[in-house]
Amino acid sequence: LVKDGTKIIARTEATSLPLHMKTGGVVPEVAARKQVEYIVPVIKKCLEDSGFTKDRIDAIAVTVGPGLVGSLVVGVESAKALSLAWDRPLIPINHLTGHIYANFIGKKPEDIEFPAAVLIVSGGHTDLILMKGHGDFDYLGGTLDDAAGEAFDKVARTLGLSSYMGGPAISKAASRWRPVKTEPMFKRPMLGSGDFNFSFSGIKTAVLYKVNGFKNAGVGVPVNEVAYEFEEAVTDVLVFKTVRAAKKFGVKSLLIAGGVSANKTLRRKLEELAADEKFQLHIPPTELCSDNAVYIASCAFFNYYPARYAEVSADPSLTVMSKPSRV
Ligand code: KG4
Ligand code: ZN
Repeated sequence: LVKDGTKIIARTEATSLPLHMKTGGVVPEVAARKQVEYIVPVIKKCLEDSGFTKDRIDAIAVTVGPGLVGSLVVGVESAKALSLAWDRPLIPINHLTGHIYANFIGKKPEDIEFPAAVLIVSGGHTDLILMKGHGDFDYLGGTLDDAAGEAFDKVARTLGLSSYMGGPAISKAASRWRPVKTEPMFKRPMLGSGDFNFSFSGIKTAVLYKVNGFKNAGVGVPVNEVAYEFEEAVTDVLVFKTVRAAKKFGVKSLLIAGGVSANKTLRRKLEELAADEKFQLHIPPTELCSDNAVYIASCAFFNYYPARYAEVSADPSLTVMSKPSRV
């Protein structure tokens, strides 16, 4: 429950993380069934925690995509039911656009000036966009293969660190390594490509070869060092291209969003680079980086386009440039 797009009134979360840790990834059917089980209690608890009665709610926002269809359907249909029962407008929200609004929580809306360069780095997407205003984007580039988060997850698995949500595990291992000045272990993919695209599939394979090399040579895999080198390589390209876009388009702000924006190295490198630049850097609070409903509500405040029920449906394949239906 969010007020004025910037203030959290109440926040309730039901997480499937321990469940997916056990299965080593999301089993879509299991996730959707759990959501069916939890969605009503979560809505009820959030309202109770807020101290609000339902007549103080102005509108219902819901993620329509991208994502797993089963999970999206649970959200979309519940939101429609709520909207009908409470007689309040229903606002469909693009999940990726939503991520950006984690930056608005706890700020004044005018703190974030446009145009802004926005890097969205999540488990399934890596996009760089020029945000000229709310709902007004130019696409600058994105990943040509794996998303940044996906690369973190796969490399965590290769290193035997985690079978699910590998990002934090890589980060933790990397922080244990005391770097010595040597040649980087991995090439910075597409650093010199001259565009705003990324590629993370090659580095994932390079890590696999490296790890196999250690194993074949009969030496232990230096997990922390490989994690560090991988994190350095990935964050180097993310930061380089984002800052380059910010400079090229003379933006007033630079924003990051998505699960990977919780990464400490990424945040530190951006802070270091942005310090001397003309634009203002905005980094969302860590606890709002990964998927949550707070930024969806905030996004709906700044992109208030109520839709008819028939036009609101789960769409797993939306991109950052797709706009949910408007009436
Ligand atoms: O946005 P998100 O919560 O879910 C999707 O929409 O995909 O992003 C999840 C991704 C996962 O790949 C996870 O490993 C990554 O974000 N992630 C991180 C960190 N925390 C989460 N990656 C690197 N460093 C982190 N600290
Ligand atoms: Zn996400």
